[in-house]
Amino acid sequence: MENKKIVVGNMKMNLTAEEISDYLKEINGQVGSNRVVICPTSIYIPYFLKQDYLVGLQNTFLHESGAYTGEISPKQAASMGIAVTIIGHSERRMYFDEKDKLINEKVKEAIKQNLRVILCIGETAEERNMMRTEKVLRKQILGGLRGLEKDMFDNVILAYEPIWAIGTGEVPTNEEITKTIGYIKSLVLEIYDYESIPVLYGGSVTDKNIKELNKIPNVSGFLVGGASTKPKKFLKIIEVAVK
Ligand code: 13P
Repeated sequence: MENKKIVVGNMKMNLTAEEISDYLKEINGQVGSNRVVICPTSIYIPYFLKQDYLVGLQNTFLHESGAYTGEISPKQAASMGIAVTIIGHSERRMYFDEKDKLINEKVKEAIKQNLRVILCIGETAEERNMMRTEKVLRKQILGGLRGLEKDMFDNVILAYEPIWAIGTGEVPTNEEITKTIGYIKSLVLEIYDYESIPVLYGGSVTDKNIKELNKIPNVSGFLVGGASTKPKKFLKIIEVAVK
């Protein structure tokens, strides 16, 4: 069985132009894998293209073009050689009030433009405490993937990111993650008859816990926030999971 994982760096709204220049000096030429995707803040994307990894966006819009100030379309992304887009990150859901219906439209447009979509799902601490995790994930999956044809699933990657684990240093146990990913995969199989959906784990993945997390049998890779902005830590994560 293929054991190599996918590693995606979500740099969010971090680093200045000068810091990016230092970052690239340490990263470029060291990755050497198209299983690694770096998603910088979008204004820096041209600096990241045509290197030894793929480049992704942290968000894309639901239309091809038009009067949508501040947005970036999947068509524009594809025209720049961008392969991947993250959709429905919990920070987009939380701070920009993105709901499943909008997320679903964004997913469809991105697939139409042949981008790989990383659809983020995950429960809050409160939902977890109330034992509602599976219910929440079910709603996010059904809402986000509504109306997709079976062949469109080849472009979909799911990222399970428990919100309480993002940026907190708290991580579920390997057993918990295995069980939740198992639930996600069986749901996609049951509802969409799609067998091999890749599911990433995200939330406080670091160079310190990657060896342990990498033992999770059904995880397809990792979505890394904070640690992806630190070249040495990010390269260590890649070393363990991808190489
Ligand atoms: P952290 O790795 O900083 O917890 O962030 C995870 C995340 O939100 C990636 O999308």
